[in-house]
Amino acid sequence: MKILLISSSPHKEKSMTFLLAKEAVKGLAQEGVESESIHLDDFRILFCKHCEECHKHILNCPLQDDVKNILKKILDADGIILASPNYINQITASMKALFDRSAHFIHCKRLSGKYVIGAVSSGSGRNKDVLTYLKHYAHTCGAQYCGGISSARQLGADKIKEAFKLGKKLSADIKQKKIYPKQIAIIEKSKQHFREIIRFRKNDWQEEYAYWVTKGWIDKDKQDISPDK
Ligand SMILES: Cc1cc2nc3c(=O)[nH]c(=O)nc-3n(C[C@H](O)[C@H](O)[C@H](O)COP(=O)(O)O)c2cc1C
Repeated sequence: MKILLISSSPHKEKSMTFLLAKEAVKGLAQEGVESESIHLDDFRILFCKHCEECHKHILNCPLQDDVKNILKKILDADGIILASPNYINQITASMKALFDRSAHFIHCKRLSGKYVIGAVSSGSGRNKDVLTYLKHYAHTCGAQYCGGISSARQLGADKIKEAFKLGKKLSADIKQKKIYPKQIAIIEKSKQHFREIIRFRKNDWQEEYAYWVTKGWIDKDKQDISPDK
């Protein structure tokens, strides 16, 4: 089992968000699960230019930076911990830039079968919107969300315990291939939406279309339908 912790605080090892997420990693370790941690601040991440090249040729982005390596690490993981401080009630710009560069994951639900947990910290403790966004990202990429942890200012013993427990839950969910029926319904609805778009754009996004066909998610012989209908 592989777990990837992606932390987007520029404070890196001293980051409150990272320290919170690390407690989940300790919970995973108690279950015998190893995790890799990365700080987005250590990588060069350019903004998406919306050239659509990644939809035409999967993971083939013309931008010369470190994003492809990070996306490969995500694809290689069974579980992903997304850790971001609250920046104006949202994730950091670095994490959003990474998400934007992963649009192919959304089109092809590349995180299907994977599990995500969110970790957020802030000055105020108003972290709900940020965690909700991380959950949305998981679903839109096809992953299920095991839960979120958040903290304000200082890491209290209760938060440490909660994070540790969530790490253990992530391990258990992956081991038993846990199904959250409500989440699967959300993911399926999104899949239905993208099925029509992928079919409609099949001549432009040939590799993504081929991916859907290979997965058996699209019926090649079915007539094209406009996504507007
Ligand atoms: C640009 C910026 C925006 C922030 N916006 C908020 C905010 O909207 N609400 C809040 O409670 N804290 C906000 N904060 C405070 C951080 O979320 C808080 O200090 C957090 O714990 C930092 O986490 P870190 O140590 O992991 O970097 C902001 C900080 C920065 C630098």
